Amino acid sequence: MHARALLLLLVLWLPAQAVERPPAAAIASAHPLATAAGHEILAAGGNAFDAAVAVSAALAVVEPYSSGLGGGGFWLLRRAADGREVMVDGRETAPLAARHDLYLDAQGGVIPGRSIDGALAAAIPGEPAALAHIAARYGRLPLARSLAPAIRYAREGFEVSEHYRRMASFRLDALRASPAAARTFLRDGAVPPLGHRIRQPDLARTLERLGREGEKGFYAGATAKALLNGVGAAGGIWSGEDLRAYRVVERAPLRGSYRGFRITTAAPPSSGGVALLQMLNILSGYDWEALAETDRVHLATEAMRRAYRDRAEFLGDPGFVAVPVQRLTDPAYAAQLRAGIDPQQATPSSALTAAAAAPGGNHTTHLSVLDREGNRVAATLSINYPFGSGFMPEGSGVLLNDEMDDFSAKPGVPNAYGLVGAAANAIAPGKRPLSSMTPTFVDGPGGTAILGTPGGSRIITMVLLGVLEFAAGREPAAWVARPRYHHQYLPDVLQFEPGALADAVQDELVLRGHTLQQAEQPWGNMQAVWWDREGGRVLAASDPRGEGRAEVRQGAAD
Ligand code: DON
Repeated sequence: MHARALLLLLVLWLPAQAVERPPAAAIASAHPLATAAGHEILAAGGNAFDAAVAVSAALAVVEPYSSGLGGGGFWLLRRAADGREVMVDGRETAPLAARHDLYLDAQGGVIPGRSIDGALAAAIPGEPAALAHIAARYGRLPLARSLAPAIRYAREGFEVSEHYRRMASFRLDALRASPAAARTFLRDGAVPPLGHRIRQPDLARTLERLGREGEKGFYAGATAKALLNGVGAAGGIWSGEDLRAYRVVERAPLRGSYRGFRITTAAPPSSGGVALLQMLNILSGYDWEALAETDRVHLATEAMRRAYRDRAEFLGDPGFVAVPVQRLTDPAYAAQLRAGIDPQQATPSSALTAAAAAPGGNHTTHLSVLDREGNRVAATLSINYPFGSGFMPEGSGVLLNDEMDDFSAKPGVPNAYGLVGAAANAIAPGKRPLSSMTPTFVDGPGGTAILGTPGGSRIITMVLLGVLEFAAGREPAAWVARPRYHHQYLPDVLQFEPGALADAVQDELVLRGHTLQQAEQPWGNMQAVWWDREGGRVLAASDPRGEGRAEVRQGAAD
């Protein structure tokens, strides 16, 4: 063979051979049964994508207040064999009959609760289509196999925990208003006691139809019929066309860098990636590790304020509005913003031109998966509020989301997370509501981080703080446990978890002009995996604030 041809062959062959393999597989998720479901699927010969399907479906069953078939999410994937990175956008869409004034009264005021409770709050679910898509396009096992653990959990039931009780108490009225939801998630109309088993036979059948028929098994046929009948009877506005028209979108993830680390993160219709890159770009102009704690909190707060200002103004579904991603994530723009930051003094949000954004708790969910081949998934999934809209159409077993509240019902009027928005995020038929979910990979010379968290508007700043911990050389246990603070432009307050800021730091921040607000509760539920290439190990961690589990297993894959 000609020498040049040989060389070419070698070049073509080398990258494939050079794909590194981690020494173990790891899964971190918000529930031990979901993590176990993922490992079961890896052990059955599935890859990280099959495992992510299994974990997502299991979470839909055992964490019903966080995510589910009635909701949506973003699955960030990286395929080791060819390095393909993609964001599977399974975000919900507004029903085709939805108009910009859907939640306004005759005087133009926002009707409280309309976008939060009941059938009218529900957007068209994307998770079932996303699971079918990921299994068919990236998985190795049949969808039905990856859904099997979830189906088992739905039939056999799972035990009510303290956290379940808190979430159900919070949404008691909404759940009571829906007979199917009350039968499923309450006992005699009250929050069930600890250890009570929640069985979901209707959901098991719905999952089986999805497994058997793929997407059609949900968006057409018996499930679709139950959904449409239920929503229609409860004052909702879904049509058969809404279900038939739902499509997953494959999007290129956003990319950026921070001090030599490569960031791969969520694209619009999430605002998370844009804001994360914007904040990291601003902070890369400082010698972060050398800064005193007060300076760090001050500068990060100023970066947060500016990124959330732009979020409120510019971000929305890119299928409907032109989102200036390039401009907002350009390091030159960050330099401009940095130049406007006074190192000693807070900039009042009112002094920043443009409009603006408050917070979330422990619903919505995140999972991080790494398999022995190096395939990875970071996925953040949601039904929005705890137990979504609280509404379950009879016979479906599917608890519907209230993701419509992530739209800006009216410019400048805050949603459930205190976020305000503008025209870019107004309701329109078929449009995806703006999200803060920020599944993220960080690749550095020494290794790879896979992370994300729920937490409404605070998601993005939690991921920022997690990335900064990783960049500072700390391990996943530190990324997920780290005390948190948050600023979102509006309201103009620096929120912090109890104990997150030392008294002296608080005093200095007040002197610099910040309005501090200690939150009543800690927030977030971060799930993280670290492939430490340099050290030849895999570590994983689940946020100590939640009841999740991270598990690293050697397992077969060679
Ligand atoms: O997509 C979003 O940004 C919201 N629906 C996420 C809600 C959330 O994280 C609630 N959890 N605390």
